[in-house]
Amino acid sequence: MLPTIDWQADVIVMIDQRQLPGKEVYVRCRTAQEVARAIRTMVIRGAPAIGVAAAMGLALGVRRSRAQGTRELTAEFTRLCDLMAATRPTAVNLFWAIDRMKAAFAEGAQAGESPAELAERLERDARRVHDEDVASCRAMGALGAALVPDRARVLTHCNAGALATAGYGSALGVIRAAVEAGKHVTVFADETRPFLQGARLTAWELVRDGIETTVIAESMAGPLMRDGQIDLVVVGADRIAANGDVANKIGTYTVAVLAREHGLPFYVAAPRSTIDLTTPDGAGIPIEERDAREMTHIGTVRVTPDGASVRNPAFDVTPNRYVTAIITEREICRPPYDESLRTVMG
Ligand code: MRU
Repeated sequence: MLPTIDWQADVIVMIDQRQLPGKEVYVRCRTAQEVARAIRTMVIRGAPAIGVAAAMGLALGVRRSRAQGTRELTAEFTRLCDLMAATRPTAVNLFWAIDRMKAAFAEGAQAGESPAELAERLERDARRVHDEDVASCRAMGALGAALVPDRARVLTHCNAGALATAGYGSALGVIRAAVEAGKHVTVFADETRPFLQGARLTAWELVRDGIETTVIAESMAGPLMRDGQIDLVVVGADRIAANGDVANKIGTYTVAVLAREHGLPFYVAAPRSTIDLTTPDGAGIPIEERDAREMTHIGTVRVTPDGASVRNPAFDVTPNRYVTAIITEREICRPPYDESLRTVMG
């Protein structure tokens, strides 16, 4: 399995996703601050992977702390949680992981544990968050594979693969599981401007697995659908509101509308840690606006003229009416989503 993120002794090691597919290099984070920087700068990205990184980063921060006693440690831990929470606003898995580590810390503190015991407790839980995410991906794959017919031509957007999770992937997990079940699957990977997660990361993962992959500019999706060359769409998600509105990589909304126009199923694969029942609908989901340089430059080459302003929202919201089904690790949720999501989270 791909080494997205790993805890090795006192260091958290991540494959540097900014450098793929050209270079396979690893970033070694020795402090919680370094982990937060890695999330912010997209060394590691993808909603579930961000959550795992945050959990490990907080555990590392507690382990590295020089605080004298639980009171001082609690204040430091709170500051680290705030630092992590400020890295990226849209993927709710980040906040889910922070809350989970806060709960573990509170439980240990209440039981009178020493700083060293608290550090151990948090490390255990962070490793659990990692392992549970892999298990969720496998379970989503097993359920979702049934929705993929033999000889399916599948369109995906962004990267919802092993690199975006602790391993195996959500949307790509569904594809992997269908292939493992003996089906022949062809993937069309939207290149996904401006960060090129599809062209760089999805294609890299799938080619490594020997899955037939064609990279397309997202503007080609419509004509391909019209010409009968796509059978279904499967994507991941960064946050799913209580009514089933889905925030995912910018461009997802366009793909969903196109799928509806051409009568194709549009599936979302996401673990329950991506479902946010506290946000009633997509209007309440914060959308990250990233650095303009991602738009104005490709690598070091400037592609827009001085003086042109750019917009760079990293995500969009697909209204629930375009979503055929949401594949979770527990079950496949169907409309009406306010009911099915509440049930799956219960
Ligand atoms: O900006 P990114 O690369 O973190 O955005 C990632 C996505 O939008 C993914 O599709 C989403 O997180 C699902 S990952 C299983």
